[in-house]
Amino acid sequence: MAFDRNELRRVMGHFATGVTVVTTHDGSGRCYGLTANAVCSVSLDPPLVLVCVDKGAESHPAFGLSQAFVVNILSDGQEDLSRHFAVSGGDKFVDMPCRSGGTGAPILDGALGYVECRVVATHDAGDHTIYIGEVQGAAAREGHPLLFFRGRYHFLHQE
Ligand SMILES: Cc1cc2nc3c(=O)[nH]c(=O)nc-3n(C[C@H](O)[C@H](O)[C@H](O)COP(=O)(O)O)c2cc1C
Repeated sequence: MAFDRNELRRVMGHFATGVTVVTTHDGSGRCYGLTANAVCSVSLDPPLVLVCVDKGAESHPAFGLSQAFVVNILSDGQEDLSRHFAVSGGDKFVDMPCRSGGTGAPILDGALGYVECRVVATHDAGDHTIYIGEVQGAAAREGHPLLFFRGRYHFLHQE
């Protein structure tokens, strides 16, 4: 019998993470994005980063269409942005301050950092797809991160 999903979610919730918004596009000019913490730096040579995307997410097909994504690392002032991108569906980019990266995926204004990738491998993983991207560009600024722990947002500088 499979391990209880709610218990796995509760236990893994003890693994504190940063928060990102992973953005992509469908190749026809429409942008997509979702809040994600299943993000990992995989390799430095070559430079690879992975994201795990729920197959049920509205954004999911766009990753396959564009073969590109940007991991936007959120700052402690971007909790509202995280909540915005955690709601499924609709055009999340209306009045959204951002610019288009070289891959066409949006880079969000005000992020603590970003990593722009072209997909080089895709792995089926249960109810998620793992997209491994080769890094095309990246930058970061000074500031504090938004954190996620046990189902709630936290702030480094208050603790
Ligand atoms: C802190 C946090 C982390 C999340 N991490 C992921 C993740 O790594 N992968 C994922 O597919 N969904 C993740 N989600 C859920 C998606 O953000 C959510 O399902 C979103 O509504 C999907 O948007 P879409 O259906 O418009 O693509 C996370 C949500 C939160 C609040």
